[in-house]
Amino acid sequence: MSDTGDEWQVARRRKGAARKSKPLQVSSNSTCSQEQLDVGKTVKRVRDTVSELRCEDFWPEWKGFLCLEQLLEAGSAILSQPPENRDTEGPTDQLGRSRDGQQLECVCYGLGSFSSCVSARYQLAMLLLLLDAGEVPLKDCSVYDPAFSSGERDVLKELGLTVLTENEEGKRLATKPTLFYLMHCGKALYNNLLWKNWSTQCLPLTIIIGNSFNGMRERTIEREFKQDYSYITQALSLCEERQLPCPSRLIDVFSDTAVITFPTSGLNRLPQSTWTEPPEPQYQHCPDLEIILRETQS
Ligand SMILES: C[S@@+](CC[C@H](N)C(=O)[O-])C[C@H]1O[C@@H](n2cnc3c(N)ncnc32)[C@H](O)[C@@H]1O
Repeated sequence: MSDTGDEWQVARRRKGAARKSKPLQVSSNSTCSQEQLDVGKTVKRVRDTVSELRCEDFWPEWKGFLCLEQLLEAGSAILSQPPENRDTEGPTDQLGRSRDGQQLECVCYGLGSFSSCVSARYQLAMLLLLLDAGEVPLKDCSVYDPAFSSGERDVLKELGLTVLTENEEGKRLATKPTLFYLMHCGKALYNNLLWKNWSTQCLPLTIIIGNSFNGMRERTIEREFKQDYSYITQALSLCEERQLPCPSRLIDVFSDTAVITFPTSGLNRLPQSTWTEPPEPQYQHCPDLEIILRETQS
């Protein structure tokens, strides 16, 4: 599979699939050229977009949602672990900070080509705004999309973010409270992420800002959803989803976005067998697979 993401295709719309791919009608920037990128200019454009979003009426609401007790809940999971497994000593009392000052980590997958796609630029700007609001150091936010050009990787580094070089396929273990930012990503990325963290210890540390799982279920043929995305299917009864507001002007950027958390209390009620040796997802027979897999060694 190409490292440039050239082979990425948005899945064909089926069964009322999300209306999302129509890019924001904002400017002429939404060409798909991969010419030499002016890093300084692109950094400035992203920062200008951050300033723009900061003035939007919906921003305080997003911020408010993220300061809620779900992050406390995430922190409380740490307290329920044996001390040797703890990375932090106390619960998180607002976005980004536990009471002992330890920070949230952040991982962003599937941002897309933000130099040419306006939606992706707005999503990047929102990520920066969230990190700023939570005082999460930029270097503690890792970003990866196989579609990034080398110029875009330079822009992200210039902004201070950590650019991953390996395709993790979403299989990142949360060893401390981690905010996963997956905007309009394919179901397989979410499913892989859930599989990797499929335990009563890790799920409460996993905070997702991304597509609503309920929305995914509604838009997918039931049999396929249950069979191919079994972790999302099971997560539906375990997670708490809070829909984030989105102005109509930015519907293609932030539609169907929710904060998804996994309260410990719900997980502990399930039989132990729920968590025993969860099989790694395989997607060989999946139609419209919406993920770029890592290249296999031949
Ligand atoms: C539907 S696009 C969404 C792009 C952008 N967030 C938006 O809303 O316009 C899904 C993105 O997921 C990325 N993607 C696919 N496989 C991935 C992987 N293994 N890791 C990270 N991102 C991946 C694609 O390259 C693509 O940019």
